[in-house]
Amino acid sequence: MSQEVRLVMAISADGKIAPGRDRSPHFGPADAYRFERVCAESDALVSGAGTLRASGRTRSIVTPDLVAWRAAHDLPPQPFSVIVTRSGNLDPSLPYFTEQPLQRAIATTDARATEMAADYADLAELWPCGAEEVEPQRILAHLAARGHQRIALLGGGELNASWFAADLVDRIELTLAPLLFGGRDAPTPIDGDGLSAAGQLSLVSCDVVEGCIFVTYDVQRGV
Ligand SMILES: NC(=O)c1ccc[n+]([C@@H]2O[C@H](COP(=O)([O-])OP(=O)(O)OC[C@H]3O[C@@H](n4cnc5c(N)ncnc54)[C@H](OP(=O)(O)O)[C@@H]3O)[C@@H](O)[C@H]2O)c1
Repeated sequence: MSQEVRLVMAISADGKIAPGRDRSPHFGPADAYRFERVCAESDALVSGAGTLRASGRTRSIVTPDLVAWRAAHDLPPQPFSVIVTRSGNLDPSLPYFTEQPLQRAIATTDARATEMAADYADLAELWPCGAEEVEPQRILAHLAARGHQRIALLGGGELNASWFAADLVDRIELTLAPLLFGGRDAPTPIDGDGLSAAGQLSLVSCDVVEGCIFVTYDVQRGV
């Protein structure tokens, strides 16, 4: 089985993923369950450092039927967690480190990985993923070496941009929520410098649940 990368995002009706980069909005219980379900189906979750700084934690699998589903499939209670950072500016006192019982790694540059290793020895593996940039392909290689095939990419917009630029996203699980955020600086699902060509998607399914629209797209890679 080859690796599959699923992007999981919720957006407001005006196309934003949050009212601001330091905010961690809720999109309602239906979206929360869908998000947790996709995470539960995954071997590993990949999040940007900005998203972690905004909320202080990542998604844990806590809903009983999803906890039971992982147990029935001989999966560990929680997916493996990866945080992507260029700067290494992470606070070890965040609930993510102190309260969430996770197997985790910090993916960063080669130099930062060396610098951070001692301070994070009891908290996370440090993965060197590139001399200048944190290369998504290197993160996938580390995950493959651990046997992780089903990868959920959890944003935010800057992290997603680098994975789309590297043409590594297979599927998008999008929730369109009945909310408006506004704001010229509010983050969107793919920020960064913009894609070199318009990404092409194929609609897989579309469902309306409690006022939210759940859309699944396959990404036409290599187009
Ligand atoms: N609605 C949703 O589904 C959803 C999902 C996720 C996030 N969000 C929201 O999005 C906002 C955060 O947006 P954001 O664009 O700032 O998020 P982000 O991508 O999580 O954070 C940006 C930071 O992550 C690190 N990073 C991202 N891509 C990187 C790469 N390719 N290489 C190295 N480091 C990389 C860098 O950290 P360093 O600065 O440490 O180098 C960068 O400054 C928050 O408000 C959050 O709540 C919403």
